Amino acid sequence: MNEHNDSIQLRSNEELTNFRKKHFLPTAGFYHKEPIQLVKAQDTYVWDSEGKRYLDAIGGIVCISAGHNHPKIKKALIEAIESDAIQHTSLLYLNQAPIETAERLLEEAPYGMDKVSFTNSGSEANELAIMAARHATGETMVVNVRHSYHGGTSAALASCGHSIWRFKGQPVTGVTSALEPYCYRCPFKQKPDSCDLECAKNVETTIQNSTHGKIAAFILEPVMGVGGFITPPDDYFREVARIVHSYGGKYISDEVQTGAGRGGSDLLLTKTLDIDADMVTMAKGLGNGAPVGAVLMKSEVAETMTGKTYFNTFAGDPLQMIQSKLTLEIIKEEQLVENARAMGDLLKDGFSQLQKKHPLIGDVRGRGLLLGIELVKDPQTKEPASDEALRLMDLCKDKGLLVGKGGQFGNVFRIAPPLTINREQVNFILETLDQSLSELSDAYTP
Ligand SMILES: Cc1ncc(COP(=O)(O)O)c(C=O)c1O
Repeated sequence: MNEHNDSIQLRSNEELTNFRKKHFLPTAGFYHKEPIQLVKAQDTYVWDSEGKRYLDAIGGIVCISAGHNHPKIKKALIEAIESDAIQHTSLLYLNQAPIETAERLLEEAPYGMDKVSFTNSGSEANELAIMAARHATGETMVVNVRHSYHGGTSAALASCGHSIWRFKGQPVTGVTSALEPYCYRCPFKQKPDSCDLECAKNVETTIQNSTHGKIAAFILEPVMGVGGFITPPDDYFREVARIVHSYGGKYISDEVQTGAGRGGSDLLLTKTLDIDADMVTMAKGLGNGAPVGAVLMKSEVAETMTGKTYFNTFAGDPLQMIQSKLTLEIIKEEQLVENARAMGDLLKDGFSQLQKKHPLIGDVRGRGLLLGIELVKDPQTKEPASDEALRLMDLCKDKGLLVGKGGQFGNVFRIAPPLTINREQVNFILETLDQSLSELSDAYTP
């Protein structure tokens, strides 16, 4: 059944699905009607248990930056294990790998950020950043933006702007939401080329109307991933940072999805967009699939925590750090940021061409290799085409292409392949999408 992992006896998809349905929490679903079992991966490709190859245009969930199983990372991990290098220690001891990862991160950090802390995930990174902001300011209120996602832990989830991710008993005190900078569905009914950045001004009125006039933090992603790769106007960020600081808050730039070069301009979009952030959080692409998160912080925030202890058992673990350090090196050596921009531009142009042909495509947006295609039943009414998005994902999968989806109504196709993707693979994505959209429209035409 599986030609790639002969030594492993694989269980059938049906058996795995049934076990999950019976014993896993009902909180996680599958991307596809018939879930596939992924067993092997190399660079931009993954293989299922039947030996079928797919171009991985979602990379887990936006985690694969340097490509699956990069030879340099593989070699380093094999050498570490074979030489009995320490697999686990904590930051209570010295070890070289976290220092070398921190060095590489700080080389690329936005101006003024010279402190680093590691975590195991993006949620924990945001949790730490929010805690640091509250500690530094002595304030509680965190302003987030509707449609955001910041993670599954307490403070991170409380700042999550989608009802589907929120739970009944979940503490939501100490947070308030500003309206979303979502140009395609502008809550102020404006057009991007003629608007007066009402969305940025709304951060100020939110602070004035739903806090006591001082805040601990504002948190936002440069491209709102789970929200459906919502891409706010560049000027929004600078204006909001100014507002946030004038009300005493710390600006947290959540680069869990956008970081590690995926935005196609710098390692961090915070730098490209010239956001005067006090903290940047990272995860996902930083470890190229390893469970690693990081917070970059300005000294003035970090120093307020002197005398306190923040401890995270697995943060800075040698094997995770080796993977992160090498991922950052590979991104630089192989010029993957530049590739993300070039391939991202080709894809975006291609999607815009497809938009002219397929009315199901309402909007094309994103930066670098974080590209969203919003599907609508009718370009005028913009009614979300959620069922069509699911069907389209399956049609692409059948043709050997894996993509993700997001957005409040699950109607945004998310394309975020490894940063190593090449032109031929870009063409494959465009052709597969074109063909699948045609099949879909044939199926829906009476
Ligand atoms: C922008 C953003 N922040 C934070 C998180 C949480 O990261 P993790 O799932 O690693 O805890 C995510 C996860 O999707 C994310 O997209």
